[in-house]
Amino acid sequence: MDDSEKRISPQNFPSKLTFYVAICWFLAAFGGLMFGYDIGISGGVTAMDDFQIKFFPKVYEKKLHAKEDNYCKYDDQNLQLFTSSLYLAALVSSFGASKACEKFGRKPTILIASVFFLAGAALSAAAMDVAMLIVGRILLGVGVGFGNEGVPLFLSEIAPVKHRGAVNILFQLFVTIGILFANLVNFAVSKIHPYGWRISLAIAGAPAAGLFIGSIVISETPTSLVERNKLEQGHKTLKKIRGVDNVDAEFNQIKAACEAAKQAKSPFKELMKRSSFPPLIIGILLQVFQQMTGINAIMFYAPVLFQTVGFKNDGSLLSAVITGVVNVVSTVVSVVAVDKVGRKALLLEACVQMFISQMAIGFILHLNLTATGSLTKVEAGVVVFLVCFFVMGFAWSWGPLGWLIPSETFPVETRAAGFACAVSSNMLFTFVVAQAFLSMMCHLKAYIFFFFAAWIFVMGLFVVFLLPETKGVPIDAMNERVWKKHPVWKKFMD
Ligand code: BGC
Repeated sequence: MDDSEKRISPQNFPSKLTFYVAICWFLAAFGGLMFGYDIGISGGVTAMDDFQIKFFPKVYEKKLHAKEDNYCKYDDQNLQLFTSSLYLAALVSSFGASKACEKFGRKPTILIASVFFLAGAALSAAAMDVAMLIVGRILLGVGVGFGNEGVPLFLSEIAPVKHRGAVNILFQLFVTIGILFANLVNFAVSKIHPYGWRISLAIAGAPAAGLFIGSIVISETPTSLVERNKLEQGHKTLKKIRGVDNVDAEFNQIKAACEAAKQAKSPFKELMKRSSFPPLIIGILLQVFQQMTGINAIMFYAPVLFQTVGFKNDGSLLSAVITGVVNVVSTVVSVVAVDKVGRKALLLEACVQMFISQMAIGFILHLNLTATGSLTKVEAGVVVFLVCFFVMGFAWSWGPLGWLIPSETFPVETRAAGFACAVSSNMLFTFVVAQAFLSMMCHLKAYIFFFFAAWIFVMGLFVVFLLPETKGVPIDAMNERVWKKHPVWKKFMD
């Protein structure tokens, strides 16, 4: 090793932006789009009359009755199961996906995701009864479980070290584009009777087909190849993706990390050690809190929610499109800001913004929306504004950072397993919120928004007292520079 090589720090491993890396980003786009499209599509579809008449006639009947209750008209367990079954399947399958990632590599894991996704899209678009619809959603869920484990790990491993944060948030950016795209599709097809909803559900196959082709074109990540003892192939791949010949320093680091990881018995056993608790607790709590902001109550049920506060079908879908645009644009802010202002500042600012929004929405609905009345145009407009204000705060903080921080705080030996725990916590709480929201709204009425506000208050305290700042800390120096120095977490690190 000559002097120049010794001076290469992980932040400066040589790399160029190669065509191959661009293809990989494209791949990430389809992975994120796939997830986002599904988050965005169900709210609009479940609000469509044709869909309700075919699968949930009772919900449709209830909606038609003149004196229906604003807060309860969509409260139906089966309707909620349609939305939330996907997340239950994703929750279970993300553990299988973490095994597949380790044993077979990232590439096959992503391929499996796209195949499940294609099958799920076909089945749900062709559904003749509720059972077929739900089985379709479950297949989509397995796709999401494999995709959300495989794609972010794949991305972290092919991204040059100095761009890892931004590349990671790119995944979230495409999630938000997927949500927006879904809202636009719903808006466009809602006038095609009686099968517009089938088009919405079928289009989910498009990003999956892109991911399928992508996963055949790309090659495996160097880390995964080295992990499975394919050293020569790993070295060749690293040269290809970095676009330079001088990759020995980075390759040696990957090799050393993989060798250290082999000393650990089983990643999940390793996670149960006291010293693994800090990143594990933080990773899980970030995902749980991310969901308890109430974001998906808004994302899944935005059209339903806007109908509830007095918009007609068209107006409510349009409002959901507006929310979608705000979501995408604000995520771009995060890409730019995250490595400058830091993680904690973004999360804390957003807590204040989201707390104000949820409280204000709660008060407006509590004071002005009786069970059978409706809001005035101005009041409804203010609610849409507040929802946008809320989404804006979420999108530049808890949205992307809920995924970024768990991917950067685990040491390599527990990274895939620890990240799987974070992914499945996300899916579990997404499921819980999706399943419970419409019933909770029926029982709690406008107080549901105060419920989310209370969670946001707790999250603010969590950021102040328990969350360490990880901005600018190299990924393999977290133990020394972050956990061992934190007043609370250092007690776990002896
Ligand atoms: C969350 C999703 C949410 C999306 C909204 C993601 O980070 O995990 O549950 O729907 O952000 O943009």
